[in-house]
Amino acid sequence: MARREILEWGSIAERYAAWLNDEENISGRAFTDIVTDAVLDMAGDPAGKRVLDLGCGEGYLSRHLARAGAVVEAIDGAGEMLRIARALSGDLPVSFRQGDICGKLPYDSSTFELIVCNMVLMDVDDIGHAIAEAARVLKPGGRLVFSVVHPTFFDATGEWRSEDGQPVYRPRRRYVEEFSYVKTLVGLDPPARLTHHHRPIQSYVQAVLAASLVLSGFAETSMSRDRRRPELTRFHFTANNLVIGATKPGGAEG
Ligand SMILES: C[S@@+](CC[C@H](N)C(=O)[O-])C[C@H]1O[C@@H](n2cnc3c(N)ncnc32)[C@H](O)[C@@H]1O
Repeated sequence: MARREILEWGSIAERYAAWLNDEENISGRAFTDIVTDAVLDMAGDPAGKRVLDLGCGEGYLSRHLARAGAVVEAIDGAGEMLRIARALSGDLPVSFRQGDICGKLPYDSSTFELIVCNMVLMDVDDIGHAIAEAARVLKPGGRLVFSVVHPTFFDATGEWRSEDGQPVYRPRRRYVEEFSYVKTLVGLDPPARLTHHHRPIQSYVQAVLAASLVLSGFAETSMSRDRRRPELTRFHFTANNLVIGATKPGGAEG
């Protein structure tokens, strides 16, 4: 039986792909461009590398990496996402596979020079296992780059209310706790309801260190710095995403 998160994502695959590929829909495209640029910056030149796209969704990052000269393996739990990914990827050198990234990955140890995991780990309930498996299949000297919605600001975990005419801030939960809830992904038509796993930044960093990886990149992306769409900068004063790079010791780069 597939995990709840995978079933949820599978059920919105077509809506998600339409949203992501709609140049006019700023909530999808603009948001995605910013985080993807940061992931690719941190990943470095993928040309000639064996790359794994972990939680590839409908595969746009896999296609980008393949066009840049990488040989790409891509895995996602949702068959519906993979059907779209295969249809959109044509003859590009991308090999898509269905699998649970919280389980044992279907790849040999020390296979990949680069692993990207774009906007996935806040949707999985066991990042420790997912990051440890990524570390296993990385070659020594290879790099994992992952992005998540920014844990500090996404849904802000609280709200301002007016009480007796005075503004009062009521936190829903404490930032430092890990907890799950159902989020609404706006911008999709209709909006989607999906399980979200909140964890503080330290949980991601600790999972990287527990997998014996070395922290090698850290960035916070924000629409307030979007060079492509200056008209959006007035809407966002916080960071939208967190991007983390982690390198496996050893090898030429380690
Ligand atoms: C927000 S989408 C991101 C997809 C893609 N990386 C992108 O940037 O568009 C999250 C993806 O993670 C996948 N996913 C969630 N939990 C998973 C798991 N345990 N194993 C494999 N895939 C999973 C979902 O099916 C979905 O395609």
